[in-house]
Amino acid sequence: MSYQKPKGTTDIYTGEIEKWQYVEAVARDVFEKYDFHEIRTPIFEHIEVISRGVGGTTDIVTKEMYDFHDKGNRHITLRPEGTAPLVRAYVEHKFFGPEHQNPFKTFYIGPMFRYERPQSGRLRQFHQIGMEVIGSKNPATDVEGILVALDFYKRLGVKHTKLVINSLGNIESRKIYRQALIDYLEPHFEELSEDSQRRLHDNPLRVLDSKDEKDQKFVQAAPSILDYLDEESHQFFEEVKVLLDALEVDYVIDHRMVRGLDYYNHTVFELMSNAPGFNGALTTICAGGRYDGLVTELGGPTSHDSGFGFALGLERAIITMEAEELEFPTVKPLDVYVVGLGEATSIESLKLVQAARYAGLISERDYLNRKAKTQFKSANKQKAKIVLVLGEDELAQGIVKVKTMATGTEITVSLAEMYQDFAGIYQKQLNA
Ligand code: HAM
Repeated sequence: MSYQKPKGTTDIYTGEIEKWQYVEAVARDVFEKYDFHEIRTPIFEHIEVISRGVGGTTDIVTKEMYDFHDKGNRHITLRPEGTAPLVRAYVEHKFFGPEHQNPFKTFYIGPMFRYERPQSGRLRQFHQIGMEVIGSKNPATDVEGILVALDFYKRLGVKHTKLVINSLGNIESRKIYRQALIDYLEPHFEELSEDSQRRLHDNPLRVLDSKDEKDQKFVQAAPSILDYLDEESHQFFEEVKVLLDALEVDYVIDHRMVRGLDYYNHTVFELMSNAPGFNGALTTICAGGRYDGLVTELGGPTSHDSGFGFALGLERAIITMEAEELEFPTVKPLDVYVVGLGEATSIESLKLVQAARYAGLISERDYLNRKAKTQFKSANKQKAKIVLVLGEDELAQGIVKVKTMATGTEITVSLAEMYQDFAGIYQKQLNA
């Protein structure tokens, strides 16, 4: 019997993991510049956090949850996204209190779980880099959030991006628009796709997201949400645009972009990639928006009931870099490889490789008592810069051979000297 990983999951190992570490390191560095601090919330949550937070009519909650009852009969779900859990933590730990950063600015990097049909770029366990700002109603917060996303991709060297924004207005405007959309779509009920028929009364805005051909002509001619913004909502969106213009950020407005989660209002945005490697297809590489109301929905105070955030799929960030043929850092080469010949050298080989590591060098040795030629092959494969050769003769004389691989130069050094100044001898030989 041999086992395989569950469908829609990946094992990430050498060759690929270096890309992940690199992308994560860039994200951490960018977040630090914007004064965001990391949070790690549990991988699983009480299901109500997600169903109330994300919304009971969304695809995530109705179709995609990895939920179960635990041995104490609690209804638990693996987290499908990071925003509702973060807001739960914000309320639970009273991050709105005077001793905390206000607005509260946090980021997370970790796995999320959705029972989706696996396909390219769509997994059941995927990983998000996300950020949230809670407690600011200032449109500058929305713009700052967008800038973080742009900055991150810029730092990765990604060039083919397109920023799309929209406003869903405040809760009242959204409600009025919702009704207008139902009134507009209802006469065409029979002509709509099955999904859209189902959504029409539960979550009509999602009809605008439909890719189904049957829905297209209705989606194209649908009333624009931007015509339903009240004064406050209109003003808010204007300010976001003014700030983006002031920073010379290019964007397009798409009044049909409504996003699939219920908590959004006011600004929503997506960053799309049209990298050459995607062959003309537009891929969403980051998405987010404002979610005023979510803090109170999860039991927090009205005084801090505003939030803005985004999340991006780590897998997609990597695919995007590949689609632009960008360079990733690769596995670091070895600084030192210790070739030990004969079992008698075993202890001294261990001492040497440890001395190298204590000197801060990436080091490896042979563990399999192999022939000199095979050990050198390993050293070459791992691109070792310096090879130490210790045979039984050398051991008896208290010396070791130090070979510079790039030039082939070889010197003999006493073991005593080696232990005294490993780093110094290494450096000198490297430049020899
Ligand atoms: P979302 O649009 O559901 O938003 O997901 C954000 C990003 O996660 C997507 O653009 C995509 O890159 C990635 N993603 C989502 N599902 C999958 C999947 N099955 N496989 C691979 N990647 C996937 C949210 O999750 C919100 N919490 C974003 C947010 C934060 N809004 C406010 N704050």
